Amino acid sequence: MFKEILRQTLVLIKPDALKNSLTGYVLSLLSEFHTGMCFAGAKIVHVSKMLAEEHYSEHKGKIFYPSLIDYITGRIHYPDEPQKRRVIAFVYQGPDATKTMRDICGPTNPHIARETQPGCIRSLGTIVPLKDGNGNIIGERMDNLIHASATDSDAEREIKLWFKPADIPPSMRAYPTVINEEHYYFKSNRLYMTHEPGSVCLLAPGDIVWKTDMETIRMIYQGAPVLTRS
Ligand code: GTP
Ligand code: MG
Repeated sequence: MFKEILRQTLVLIKPDALKNSLTGYVLSLLSEFHTGMCFAGAKIVHVSKMLAEEHYSEHKGKIFYPSLIDYITGRIHYPDEPQKRRVIAFVYQGPDATKTMRDICGPTNPHIARETQPGCIRSLGTIVPLKDGNGNIIGERMDNLIHASATDSDAEREIKLWFKPADIPPSMRAYPTVINEEHYYFKSNRLYMTHEPGSVCLLAPGDIVWKTDMETIRMIYQGAPVLTRS
């Protein structure tokens, strides 16, 4: 009933924004006063390589992909301070959530953002040349301070990737959830319902799970292959 009317999007404050102490400024621009949107979830995340690669899987194989992964995992801006490598992740909720947030972020490329939309968040970003081992410029990295989901379906995928249902107040969960009733352990691309030496406990009885994730887990348990994006 209420699920249909919730419009949500994932926003990430990226490591360059944190490094340059722009978090407060960015959050002011995103405030309910300016955007009509409010928080449904917020967390500080140490971004694993696996999470980064899943989040940006559409860019795998592109020349800037390795530097994009290093950027979002914080390795670029905190090379010697691994404890500071993090992003701040938000679920924002409000009318036309994806479009509203994308508009205030501005174009992906900070140079274009400055030319075409001065004052947008990404107009404060930078472009960094990428060099090969010999010092030749082979591309560029766009340090653009903020991520916002591009479409409603991207928002759903990304919110479910970055947030567990329990991270979001029950009345603000936009997607259906279920309560898991089994133990699930994961090891070497296989699921088990009993503990195997070296396995990781994915789910325990009572855990609240996105319904689509539960369906996927059940299918994998029944023998469906674990899909990895190529
Ligand atoms: P995100 O909010 O970070 O997802 O940016 P976006 O949706 O505006 O752009 P997209 O998803 O296409 O790209 C993800 C990230 O990859 C961008 O934020 C950039 O850092 C980087 N990127 C995208 N396109 C290019 C490109 O053509 N060249 C370079 N060097 N980097 C790119
Ligand atoms: Mg994107």
